[in-house]
Amino acid sequence: YPHHPPAVAKLLIETAQALVNPRGKGIYATDETIDDIESRLASAEGIVGKLYTNAEKRDRRRRFRQCLYESLPTDYISGVILYHETLLDFQMGPILSNRGIIPGVRADTNAHPLPISPSEPATQGLDDLLPRLRAAARAGARFSKWRAPILCNSSTLPTQAALEAQAESLARFAAISQQAGLVPIVEPDVDFAEDANLQRSVEIHVKIITMIYARCAAYGVLLEGSLIKPSFPQPGLKHASRPNTPVEAIGLATATVLARSVPVAVAGVVFLSGGLSDSDCVQYLNAVNVVVNNAPSNSPLCLSRLPNLSFSFGRGLQGSAMQKWVRGDEDGAKAAFEERAKACFSAARGEA
Ligand code: 13P
Repeated sequence: YPHHPPAVAKLLIETAQALVNPRGKGIYATDETIDDIESRLASAEGIVGKLYTNAEKRDRRRRFRQCLYESLPTDYISGVILYHETLLDFQMGPILSNRGIIPGVRADTNAHPLPISPSEPATQGLDDLLPRLRAAARAGARFSKWRAPILCNSSTLPTQAALEAQAESLARFAAISQQAGLVPIVEPDVDFAEDANLQRSVEIHVKIITMIYARCAAYGVLLEGSLIKPSFPQPGLKHASRPNTPVEAIGLATATVLARSVPVAVAGVVFLSGGLSDSDCVQYLNAVNVVVNNAPSNSPLCLSRLPNLSFSFGRGLQGSAMQKWVRGDEDGAKAAFEERAKACFSAARGEA
């Protein structure tokens, strides 16, 4: 390991492996900002304008997290990504680690507009990253995640500047995360709101992922001690082909992207759900795993070399549980979460 002390490298590799093994286990992403979790709770509650004090809201966030963390199904969930409030203020890492679930932390802060192309986001958070991640490690975190949204349409987006800025900050994040002893998860999240077709989405996924790993090589990131959290390539919501695109085509496109752009040393792939419906994100995850399971050994894409392909879902796991929890049905929320986690586990084995 040219850039890491052997003990640190060993720990990074062990943690990265534990997040995606046994095959099917995946991550629960609970790293929404305070504003985002508040708006999700409010919309699940469905009572527009219901007034809570700030202290009541904080307590509600804490109770929602606690309810699910204490009952997460350990057969299906390997790790949880926490927002810093949950990790550092509520000190909830031990609830998870005592149950054998690995706590992680969100590392990025906010996105700012890219000056040359202000509609495109440039993710922030590098300046004080090392001390923040060291504090997270002291609170029990063993991995971290940085999300880089990439806009995508049929012609003008993303710009080369946006791709370079996001790839550069993801790689710098990954190197700093390993410096703090935390497994980095690099998250290129290619948007599907516009008019790109599936081929264009594949092209942009391959491009950004290839650029990220070129920069990771430049910064000496230990790939075996890292994971990637990509979006699924798919036609945009404004492209006519979207409703008629078979799920098998998404599965093949996803496997193609990964085979062409993720180095074989990377420990695992954990997809984001990105606002897809509960049924779509499970179907896409299943479809890519079916492609891999059924790939002939002489397939030109060498799909047998891909690592485990699992999930790191937020909305795709907790939506139905949240609906029940806001109505006071804690047991129903726990059962709903377990049902979703089991479906994701099966999909991550291509058995859904
Ligand atoms: P979703 O699965 O809700 O997209 O959340 C995953 C995540 O961590 C986004 O950064």
